[in-house]
Amino acid sequence: MTDARTFSSPLDLQSVRADFPILSRELAGGFPLVYLDSANSSQKPTQVVQAISDHYLKHNANVARAMHQLGAEATAAYEGGRDKVAAFIGATNRDEIVFTKNASEALNLAAHSLGASLKPGDVVVISEMEHHSNIVPWQLLCERTGATLKWFGVTEDGRLDLSNIDELLTEQTKIVSLTWVSNALGTINPIADIAVKAHAVGATVVVDASQAVPQFPVDVSTLGVDILVFTGHKAVGPTGIGVLWGRYDLLAALPPFLGGGEMIEIVRMTGSTFAAPPARFEAGTPPIAQAVGLGAALDYLSGIGMDKIAAHEHAIVEYALEGLKTVPGLKLLGPTDAVDHGAAISFELDGVHPHDVSTVLDTRGIAVRAGHHCARPVHERFGMQSSTRASFYLYTTPEEIDALVDGLGFVRSFFKVD
Ligand code: ALA
Repeated sequence: MTDARTFSSPLDLQSVRADFPILSRELAGGFPLVYLDSANSSQKPTQVVQAISDHYLKHNANVARAMHQLGAEATAAYEGGRDKVAAFIGATNRDEIVFTKNASEALNLAAHSLGASLKPGDVVVISEMEHHSNIVPWQLLCERTGATLKWFGVTEDGRLDLSNIDELLTEQTKIVSLTWVSNALGTINPIADIAVKAHAVGATVVVDASQAVPQFPVDVSTLGVDILVFTGHKAVGPTGIGVLWGRYDLLAALPPFLGGGEMIEIVRMTGSTFAAPPARFEAGTPPIAQAVGLGAALDYLSGIGMDKIAAHEHAIVEYALEGLKTVPGLKLLGPTDAVDHGAAISFELDGVHPHDVSTVLDTRGIAVRAGHHCARPVHERFGMQSSTRASFYLYTTPEEIDALVDGLGFVRSFFKVD
């Protein structure tokens, strides 16, 4: 067993975990839940669930189009969520925050609206370590417009291969869209540095921050990118809400993505004009209770402190990497040290399929993810079809990492791979 005494975190884990009732669940066989799948979806604290419940029980109505008292309360609650998101990521203008249904929709919005002016000869640059939601929308865009998709490769140690950056970023490059933290490799990419180079050739920079915003402090006022997206449910918030932040002048120049109610200025049978951002990009009834829940989630994370959460995640990753390296036949996918390593670690266990690894771990209450984690190209890059992934958050304890390491020993003996 790994030595828990080498672990040090600024968080009071007992008190954090008390906010997440699900973490005290006992699963089949009497095993306590060991939840190591937070990169997939984080657990929710009581504070978030109560905020959503309170909204539905006391203030529920549609927003912007209901002229009664409840309508005004619901609108204030929804717009309050926008204020909280803006403050959390350092946006100076609340109208730069667009609510979507998730990060995938936000990236589709970016691809659709930014890409409206692309033409053959233009280039969009992504990377081989992207989640499918930062690959497929750009592929669809390039098919539609005749633009060319290019990408950064990944080095043997799981970092972005920037050796050909000057070939990828040229005057033809109109959009660069990269993940800040890889959901499969855990790699934290040097987004600010790449943005400087991309801007030097006139490209617009989009960042998928789905695994970043939950893990460390983010300040869009200094990051130097043009659009940043993330999702609520990985940041202790509810499902059904994503965020697109964009520089206001950029958003104001973009065409809408989805058409419908409340995104318009004037509708005539012969044509329509559109509202200013963010309404232009929020067609139909928006995710109202979800915005309230996301606001409560960000209040919760701020109350604990994103610096402390980042330090905790770093300590857990360091501890987990040490522990996993003691498991015979285990090969890490991605960086093997904790430097610039987010809170997800994928691995292969020699002789056991990832689905079998996760199924046997599950019999001991340990929840991990198995598959390609919606990042098939990066698995292909390493000659793999799939992997097992353990991912962590502010409530993860070193004892849970020990349980994972012991569990992997059990998996090996179960499948007799000694
Ligand atoms: N993007 C989510 C994950 O990495 C679904 O698991």
